[in-house]
Amino acid sequence: MKKKSHYQAEIAGTGIYLPEKILTNADLEKTLDTSDEWIRTRTGIQERRIAQKDESSSTLGAHAAKNTLNAAGMTPDELDMIIVCTSTPDVLYPSTACFVQKNLGASKAAAYDISAVCSGFVFGLSIAEQYIKSGRYENVMVIGAEVNSRIMDWTDRKTCILFGDGAGAVIVKRVEKEEPIGILSSHIYSDGNHSDMLIVPGGIGREPVNREAVDNKMYCLKMAGQSTFKMAVKRMTEVSRECLEFNGLSTEDVDVVIPHQANRRIIETVSEKLNMSIDKFFINIHKYGNTSAASIPIALHEARESGRLESGALSLLTVLGAGITWGAAAIRW
Ligand code: ACO
Repeated sequence: MKKKSHYQAEIAGTGIYLPEKILTNADLEKTLDTSDEWIRTRTGIQERRIAQKDESSSTLGAHAAKNTLNAAGMTPDELDMIIVCTSTPDVLYPSTACFVQKNLGASKAAAYDISAVCSGFVFGLSIAEQYIKSGRYENVMVIGAEVNSRIMDWTDRKTCILFGDGAGAVIVKRVEKEEPIGILSSHIYSDGNHSDMLIVPGGIGREPVNREAVDNKMYCLKMAGQSTFKMAVKRMTEVSRECLEFNGLSTEDVDVVIPHQANRRIIETVSEKLNMSIDKFFINIHKYGNTSAASIPIALHEARESGRLESGALSLLTVLGAGITWGAAAIRW
């Protein structure tokens, strides 16, 4: 057996699934005191996808997982682990990952969820990286899947215009190659001092379901928009720099930045702070809004499909989410 340090965590395949139903800004104008112009100029969003009644994070995630297995030319029984990153699980327990595992028939895989909200996918990727590089597992699937539409207050124009539903996945595969390939490093952080900045306060432990909690929409997302905006710019910039420095790389080495798609203005400000051209940032927020943990894997897949992540390309993932949590990862393709 080779030394553990020879194992690398390659991305063997990517895949996505978006619900068919599209909710445009024009649709929102009919029910909210808002405008297409306000939403587009303040956020960059034009439309978002909304899950049908019979869809959930596990069904979206399973679709994305099947597409990923097909892309990688693999079968479900080859998966050692399934990590579902979601803040909108199907039920409180069991985990959404167990429903995905059943749906796939991935009988060998240990399946569990992690909760780091929008940062979930980068946190999940970091876990997969450690299992792969330690030599413990060969194939770990990381899925970001969300039905944000289920936790929106559709009368709150400050939040409901931002979010959408969807799923994306990758398979992290153990390989032994001389040159650095796959996940070069991942860097994850949390600061619970800002837990109230983005929060779904009710419906469970602290505030169980009761008439008052429902009337006060405590099961819906509450967000301090401007503080989140500033925090996102600061942390995403900082952790991007850290990730590059850790690998002895500079911003010039990066071919494509895959930022969390929360607000186009956040992405533009991060690009200015990093002194990188906005052209290097992959942006698809106009089509999907903020899909939380699904945002980065969806963007990663679309960047790959568009031909921007050919063999040898370097991508930098960067995110901030509720918690607050934040992180970055560098991937060599
Ligand atoms: N349509 C029309 N007007 C609106 C809307 C809307 N949809 N929403 C707010 N406004 C109004 C406000 O009421 C306010 O009016 P007022 O001046 O009369 O009071 C005005 O627009 C400005 O409101 P702001 O909140 O100051 O607008 P801002 O430019 O900050 O944009 C936004 C708000 C888009 C929410 C922004 O702050 C943002 O993107 N924040 C970050 C969100 C984010 O990054 N989330 C990521 C993490 S998500 C997660 O982890 C789950």
